[in-house]
Amino acid sequence: MNLDDIRAHIPTSSHYTYLNHAACAPLPVEVQAAQKTYVEERALHGDVVYEQWIEKTEATRALIADFIGGLPEEIAFLKNTSEGINLVATMLPFTERDNVVTTDLEFPSNFLPWYDLQRKGVEFRVVKNRNHVLELEDFEKAIDDNTRCVAVSHVEFATGFKNNIRVLSELCSDHHAYFFVDPIQSLGALSFDVRETTMDFFSSACYKWLMSELGISIFYIKRELIDQFHPSYIGWFSLKDYLDYEKFDREHPEITTTARKFECGNLNFYGVCTLYASLQFLNKFSRTWVEDRVLKLADHTIDAACEKGFEVQTPSDHAGIVNFKVKNAGKVVEALKERNIIVSSRAGGIRVSAHFWNTFEEVDTLVEAVEDICC
Ligand SMILES: Cc1ncc(COP(=O)(O)O)c(C=O)c1O
Repeated sequence: MNLDDIRAHIPTSSHYTYLNHAACAPLPVEVQAAQKTYVEERALHGDVVYEQWIEKTEATRALIADFIGGLPEEIAFLKNTSEGINLVATMLPFTERDNVVTTDLEFPSNFLPWYDLQRKGVEFRVVKNRNHVLELEDFEKAIDDNTRCVAVSHVEFATGFKNNIRVLSELCSDHHAYFFVDPIQSLGALSFDVRETTMDFFSSACYKWLMSELGISIFYIKRELIDQFHPSYIGWFSLKDYLDYEKFDREHPEITTTARKFECGNLNFYGVCTLYASLQFLNKFSRTWVEDRVLKLADHTIDAACEKGFEVQTPSDHAGIVNFKVKNAGKVVEALKERNIIVSSRAGGIRVSAHFWNTFEEVDTLVEAVEDICC
C-alpha cells in the first residue's frame, strides 16, 4: 500500500491536517465498519451473539499479546489507563518503610495513585526533570532497596521525552522494585516488546497511537506475578470457569490463574470489537516501518520548527510527540482549528503528534500556519 492508499483508509485525512494522536486518534474505515457491525448485532440479536463477543475477546487478547511480545494470559481488558494504574497501586503490598518513585513529567493518572499511597504511610518520591529530560542518575538517586515500585510513562505526554525503559527496568531489578510503565504515548507508534525489559506491569488505553476506541484499555501483568497478586475487585470474570457460573463452588470458588481475574465482570465488548479491528489495521504494516515513519515525521517537525525560529521543548530522546513554544499556545491552537489543522497546546507550546499515515507536507502546513498566526 502506498501512502495515498493508506490515507484512503483514514477519512479524517481528507478534511483535516490531523496531527493530534497524542490526544485522540481518528479511526480507519475498517474500524468504523467493525463498530457499525457491533452496534447492529447488539441491537438486533442481543444475547444471541454473546458467545461471539467472548470469542472476539479471546482473539483480541491473542492479537495484543502478539503485538507486545507477551502471552494472552498476561493481558486483561479494563476501561482506561488510570484503572490499571490504580489496580497496581492498590494491590501491591506496602509497609511503612517503603517508597514509590515516579516523575514530575507524568500525566495526572500516573501520579495521583502513587501520591495517594502517602495515606498508607508510603514515602512518595518524584524524580524531577531537567529541561524536559529525566536523567538516569536522578532515578539512581531516588531508587533504593526500600523502593517498592517505580512508575513511569514510556513517552512523557507534554513534551515527549522517551524514557529508556530497558535500563530503568534493570535498575528496578537491582533493587527488587516492581516496574510499572504507562505506554499510552508509544503503543502503536513504537515497537514495544515486554520481553526486552523486565517490566512487571503496564496499563494503556487504546484511543491514541493504537487508533482505537475510548473506554477500553490493556492491562499487562508478567506471567510469574499473576498468582502472587489478588485483584482489588473480584467478580464472575475472575472465576476459572466463569462461563459455567451456575456450577461454581460456593464453598471454594476457583479463581483463574490468568490476568482475566482482574476483569471482574462483563467487558466493553464494543471496545473489544473496535480494538480487534484497529490491531488488524495496524498489523498490515511492519512495526519497524511504522516506527521509522513516526520518528522521521517527528524529526521533520523539529527541523521545520527550528528553521522558523521556534524553541523546541522536545529532547533528543523522543518518539512521536514534538512540542515547540509559542506565546498564547491555547489561542494559537484554536486559530489553527479554524484552518482545520488539529494539534494540542501543552507546556506553553504546540504539541504535534503525527502518526505513520501523516505526510511531511502536513507538518510543513502546520508550521507555516503557526508562523503566520504568531509572527
Ligand atoms: C501518559 C498518559 N497516560 C494516561 C492518559 C489518559 O489516561 P486514561 O486512559 O485513564 O484516560 C493520558 C492522556 O492523555 C496520557 O497522556
